[in-house]
Amino acid sequence: DQELAKLITEKLREIPDFPEPGVLFRDITPLLANGPAFAELIQLLADKYRGKVDAVAGLESRGFILAAPLAISLGVGMLTVRKGGKLPGPVIGVDYELEYGTARMELRPDSVKKDDRVLIIDDVLATGGTANAAMQLIEEAGAKPVAICVLMELLDLGGRAKLPDTQIDALVSF
Ligand code: PRP
Ligand code: MG
Repeated sequence: DQELAKLITEKLREIPDFPEPGVLFRDITPLLANGPAFAELIQLLADKYRGKVDAVAGLESRGFILAAPLAISLGVGMLTVRKGGKLPGPVIGVDYELEYGTARMELRPDSVKKDDRVLIIDDVLATGGTANAAMQLIEEAGAKPVAICVLMELLDLGGRAKLPDTQIDALVSF
């Protein structure tokens, strides 16, 4: 995991005051735009989870960028956990609180095989609302979320507290 942390840390771009004053935005686009670095990231992630998962769930939308190549590398399918209203039914959904207002994530339960071991992947764990919603959806669909993998965890926002008894693999923490 040290190699993964190094790769991510080196390629992140920090943007002060985005999207709001006082917020330091950590941008992964330089990592994605670097072909060898992106390939190495997916390779290292695949090495970490090979043989341990039956499906990879990407969280719309930045999680999709990671989930699709990782699923291919692992030789398993990809699940799309989508923002509310994007998937045709039948869907199950979970509403959760944002700082202002609410959000909703949805999943087609028929995209999941019962008892499959599912890896949830996203770019960032912040308040944990999105990841927690994904966990609930995968459980409700009858599968087993085995871990949540994020490139970055923002410790100040306390997302981990929303996810007790969950393996959270944060490659870099701030
Ligand atoms: C961001 C990020 C995570 C989520 C983390 O997604 O990509 O998915 O927020 O926040 P949380 O832990 O507080 O739930 P965003 O909703 O901005 O959308 P995007 O992925 O479509 O850019
Ligand atoms: Mg997101």
